[in-house]
Amino acid sequence: MVGDPALPPGIGRVLITSAELAGRVRELGRSLERDYAGRVPLLVGVLNGAAVFVADLMRAIAGPVECDFVAVSSYGSGTRSQGVVAIRADLLTPIAGRDVVIVEDVVDTGRTLAELKAMLEARGPRSVRTCALLDKRERREVPVDVDYVGFTIPGQFVVGYGLDLAGLHRNLPYIATVAEPGRA
Ligand code: IMP
Ligand code: MG
Repeated sequence: MVGDPALPPGIGRVLITSAELAGRVRELGRSLERDYAGRVPLLVGVLNGAAVFVADLMRAIAGPVECDFVAVSSYGSGTRSQGVVAIRADLLTPIAGRDVVIVEDVVDTGRTLAELKAMLEARGPRSVRTCALLDKRERREVPVDVDYVGFTIPGQFVVGYGLDLAGLHRNLPYIATVAEPGRA
């Protein structure tokens, strides 16, 4: 795909606009607010990709809510999963007895979310649910329930709204595809 001259170099085309993101995040926030009424859910954002999403999502929840973050091993600087998940920076919050909602930017093979969910479940929380802004369902290799999904998207690599390619493009306010190298 040739890059759009109106977009930054390396960006292919906009898949989800910032207005669409804002609208869907508001809906997800309302769902969480309803489902966790009378409790104080702990949103666990998966760094670095989910930082932007968590920041918006928690402001879409009117009731009491906490957040914490965890960093896990990921793709490094490439675009393919390495297949092993390890916690690189742990939560500061004890989660025993808590209602945890893992917040991911995107579920691809499912490996990261499935393994992280199992690791957090071993700590004795009251409940663990999962929320992903993007779900590349067709790419799933490991079964994992995603309880709250923002958008189901095709299997291609995307950036923006927290998602990166080799550390860049997280600051884009929309979700976009990446231009083919040499053609942008
Ligand atoms: P999975 O373990 O294969 O499901 O991959 C999930 C993780 O890979 C996410 O937390 C992202 O950090 C990263 N990832 C997967 N697809 C993309 C993408 O299209 N853009 C940016 N990061 C991605
Ligand atoms: Mg991630």
